[in-house]
Amino acid sequence: MKKGLFSKLVAAFTAIIIVSFVMTAAFLSYWFESYYFEQRKSQLLKESQFISYKALQYLAGDLTSDEINETLNNIAKYLSADIWLVDNYGYVYSVSKSEHKQLVTNPTQIVTKDLEELRENKTVDKKEIHSDILVDPVHTFEIPIFSNGVFKGAILMHTSINELREPLKRVYEIIWISAILAIIICSVVIYYLSQRIIVYPLKKINYVADKISKGEVEKRVCINSNDEIGELAKSFNSMADSLEQVEKNRRHFISNVSHEIRSPLTSIKGFIGGMIDGIIPHEKQNYYLSVTYSEIQRLTRLVNDLLDLSAIEAGQFKLRIEELDINEIIRLCIIKFQTKINEKKLKVDVVMENDKLYVAADRDRINQVVTNLIDNAVKYVNVGGNIKVSTKIKGEKAFISVYNDGEGIPESELKHIWDRFYKSDKSRTSKVSTGLGLSIVRSILTQLGEDIWVENRESGGIIFAFTLKRV
Ligand SMILES: Nc1ncnc2c1ncn2[C@@H]1O[C@H](COP(=O)(O)OP(=O)(O)OP(=O)(O)O)[C@@H](O)[C@H]1O
Ligand SMILES: [Mg+2]
Repeated sequence: MKKGLFSKLVAAFTAIIIVSFVMTAAFLSYWFESYYFEQRKSQLLKESQFISYKALQYLAGDLTSDEINETLNNIAKYLSADIWLVDNYGYVYSVSKSEHKQLVTNPTQIVTKDLEELRENKTVDKKEIHSDILVDPVHTFEIPIFSNGVFKGAILMHTSINELREPLKRVYEIIWISAILAIIICSVVIYYLSQRIIVYPLKKINYVADKISKGEVEKRVCINSNDEIGELAKSFNSMADSLEQVEKNRRHFISNVSHEIRSPLTSIKGFIGGMIDGIIPHEKQNYYLSVTYSEIQRLTRLVNDLLDLSAIEAGQFKLRIEELDINEIIRLCIIKFQTKINEKKLKVDVVMENDKLYVAADRDRINQVVTNLIDNAVKYVNVGGNIKVSTKIKGEKAFISVYNDGEGIPESELKHIWDRFYKSDKSRTSKVSTGLGLSIVRSILTQLGEDIWVENRESGGIIFAFTLKRV
């Protein structure tokens, strides 16, 4: 049998039950034995008064030896004990059982050491083995006999220890039977509980984990308990959720990449094929070659963007943090876009608090961030629209924002714009865009430990803002 949780739990509980029952049995038997002996002692003590009276009668010559023996015999039967009478020197002169007669006929000094105590009118209580006279070991109770303050001998009452232990045996039996019953009941309860609370839910989690590892990422565990297993199931499910999300993203990413690569490749293949086959006339070849060239440029950009993104996300880009003037970077960037700005007849407003604003960042990466944001603003603003780029100082931070008027982005789509390949209005986005710009921006800023956010302005238009650390 597999050493499962159930067998371990049963073993542990059985051990606990056995230890506790053994302790209970030991305590009970100790208590019961002393209680029982005390009871016996007081019973013997009570009877001893009558025996003592009869013994004094015998010693005074008022009773014959047979009469005293007869009396002892009767009381001994009633008490189920052996009773001997000894004189003041410890010699036996009367016994309850005729088989012990030799003690009287060959006067034997039975009591020696205890005489001192008996003389002081003390009772003696001890365990003895009279192996030569009695078969079983006995518990002996010695009671002195006094007459007018004079020590006249003692009564010895022997009770077989085995006989005394008889009722104790019964107690042990009861204890052990209840221990066994307790173990059986516990096993059943543990079996039920461990199956219901631990084994079954764990099996379920295990089964689902196995399915997920084989690719069925949509599988979930359904356990509704408020204990640790329930929490485990919840964490397991949320882990499965993220796994499923990662898997979805991966599929989505691959399909996006292939799609983005396939369209330029198809057109390049078409144009070049047309030239080889002679379908495209000689005089138009230059034009088609330039189209092909721009497609190749687009492909190169796409691949470069992807490589950048994966390198930033993998943390492979070693940031070269230096002190740089963000205002200057913005100015240079706007100059780069001058042709496009003129073509779209845009009005660009640049608002800067100071002439120079020094921040700690990586020059190339920040250039990429500013270029991407201004590129978007220029690309998505309407012809003749407004763009406003501003920098502000707030405590330790520099706030940089890029605003352009227009319709902005629908609120429902705002949270997606950071996703790779996300393009909100497919019809409006030019063929050149890949939807990677904002993902790159966010990855760079995250790596720098900075924030970026976006919001639609109530008056229309959209603003992207990010922070940088001032120096
Ligand atoms: N300033 C903006 N105004 C309106 N829409 C915007 C603006 N910036 C971004 N968007 C929307 O967010 C989408 C994602 O932007 P992102 O820069 O990531 O990709 P892209 O500009 O389409 O492509 P790429 O930047 O890779 O050339 C864009 O397709 C656009 O729909
Ligand atoms: Mg862009």
